[in-house]
Amino acid sequence: MKHIVIAIDGPAASGKGTLARRLAEAFNLPYLDTGLLYRVVGRRVLDHGGDPSDVALASEQARGLGRLDLERGDLRTPEVDRAASAVASIPAVRAALLDFQRSFALHAGAVLDGRDIGTIVFPEADVKLYITASLTVRAARRFAERRALGAEVTLEAVQADLAARDEADRTRAAAPLRPAEDAHRIDTSALDANHAFAAAADWVNRAL
Ligand code: C5P
Repeated sequence: MKHIVIAIDGPAASGKGTLARRLAEAFNLPYLDTGLLYRVVGRRVLDHGGDPSDVALASEQARGLGRLDLERGDLRTPEVDRAASAVASIPAVRAALLDFQRSFALHAGAVLDGRDIGTIVFPEADVKLYITASLTVRAARRFAERRALGAEVTLEAVQADLAARDEADRTRAAAPLRPAEDAHRIDTSALDANHAFAAAADWVNRAL
């Protein structure tokens, strides 16, 4: 099988992570959740007692990022959600993370998910998918995930956080969230994980 790159973009809690992991397994490709890179940078800035919109500090943390950092267990908190989104709007941070993402796919191809994979990181990807779902469906999913982890959150707060983060990701000047022109769109509002996977696998099979 040739080494292919599958680029998956979409807003938070759209189902793209679950889908990306399943595609990676089915097509025997390495998987990179690129949101983790921005989360690590945000986390490191917070650890330094800094402000995630501090350009110099955030860029320095992005340049020093290593593979092991991605295994930290404290990257999925609301505080880190916001810090990740803030550092992600800084062009120097994004530039520092580009090489890491591109080299990840160099040897065996890859599935990568994020916000700008099909537009900026891999504009030549073999398959581009843009995964969406309504805000209420995404909020319900994220709420259930956070509750399962024991977090004391309300559905309203989760939904407000998601809406704010999506708005920031869509309207920022640097690599805003948007579908690539040649991306195939899959709306998972009314699809379970199996149906979303079937639709996506179909596009991948056509590209092989
Ligand atoms: O995907 P996840 O929710 O973990 O991403 C956290 C944040 O990182 C997003 O809200 C977004 O601001 C940023 N991000 C990005 N580009 C990517 C992946 C994530 O700007 N490719």
